Amino acid sequence: MISSESKIYVSGHQGMVGSALIRQLKNQNFENIITRTRQELDLTNQTDVRNFMQIERPDCVLMAAAKVGGIHANNVYAAEFIYTNLMLECNLIHQAFEADVQNILFLGSSCIYPKYAQQPMAETALLTGILESTNEPYAIAKIAGIKLCESYNRQYGTDYRSAMPCNLYGPNDNFHLENSHVIPALIKKVHLAKMTNQPFVDVWGTGSALREFLHVDDLAGACLKILKTPKSEYDSFVSPMCSHINVGFGEDISISELTKIICKVLNYSGDIGYDTSKPDGSPQKLMDTTLISNMGWKPFYSLEAGIAQTYEWFLANERTVRS
Ligand SMILES: NC(=O)c1ccc[n+]([C@@H]2O[C@H](COP(=O)([O-])OP(=O)(O)OC[C@H]3O[C@@H](n4cnc5c(N)ncnc54)[C@H](OP(=O)(O)O)[C@@H]3O)[C@@H](O)[C@H]2O)c1
Repeated sequence: MISSESKIYVSGHQGMVGSALIRQLKNQNFENIITRTRQELDLTNQTDVRNFMQIERPDCVLMAAAKVGGIHANNVYAAEFIYTNLMLECNLIHQAFEADVQNILFLGSSCIYPKYAQQPMAETALLTGILESTNEPYAIAKIAGIKLCESYNRQYGTDYRSAMPCNLYGPNDNFHLENSHVIPALIKKVHLAKMTNQPFVDVWGTGSALREFLHVDDLAGACLKILKTPKSEYDSFVSPMCSHINVGFGEDISISELTKIICKVLNYSGDIGYDTSKPDGSPQKLMDTTLISNMGWKPFYSLEAGIAQTYEWFLANERTVRS
């Protein structure tokens, strides 16, 4: 378990989740936070990660570095997704262990669950069926991360925990029109349509797929809740072979309803069309959030308020956002 005196290494601190974790840690008076940019430390390089861990010897590692993207990026860059994520997970977890790091929080994703998992998806649905093919390489790497944590816990008695967030959105997201996730891509698309008076916006897929979205600051709050929970209490929620915890909003929404909310927040009144030649991905992805709710956590942002906050951030940072 960590306290505000703990030395915390946040990997991927310039990304959406990493930067939200830093905001949350600072809000909760953590002062001993260490970070490295990718230029300073490439986490796929085993020797560099080893040297870093041996010198810094943090008390806790928050694993927010990863190669991340939406359906298109996962499809096109399948090899990069599986290679980068497996390498950085193996390096971070093993070299942290070698440097006596007792606490790790590994971040996975709801895509670890089978394509046709019973909804809402409980933690125990892991490895009970085939994965969605478009993001299988990424999901396999994320499942490996959970199993790495569990295996070190089982063999060495470490306290390595894993959180599985649903789709996230918020400040510092990637707003690339093709390679990003659905909310930032739609915000960017609708924003551009509004600015250029386009009468029409097209959305990928049929619009019927159901997805769950959580503001990244809510995820960061949940991560700290998980990390600050005493081990005996945490162990009462999980089991040695199923030790990850879902973090979700608790409700899903269709892509067409989401698009309506984004148009409303951005005050765009053009028409919406659906490009059905593009894949929908899994028909529904809603996580069972009973465990994290029972731990005493719930989200703060409604979807509309979260999108409004994200759009405000986008407008204030339009020139420098990742896209
Ligand atoms: N975004 C979501 O909707 C979502 C949903 C569920 C789970 N998650 C999980 O949350 C975590 C963070 O996601 P995110 O959305 O914050 O992604 P992100 O914004 O793309 O941030 C990822 C960070 O990782 C860094 N990174 C990637 N490869 C690296 C390497 N080889 N060495 C060092 N740093 C490296 C990136 O650095 P560069 O900027 O230099 O590339 C970036 O700062 C991931 O594990 C992801 O699976 C995200």
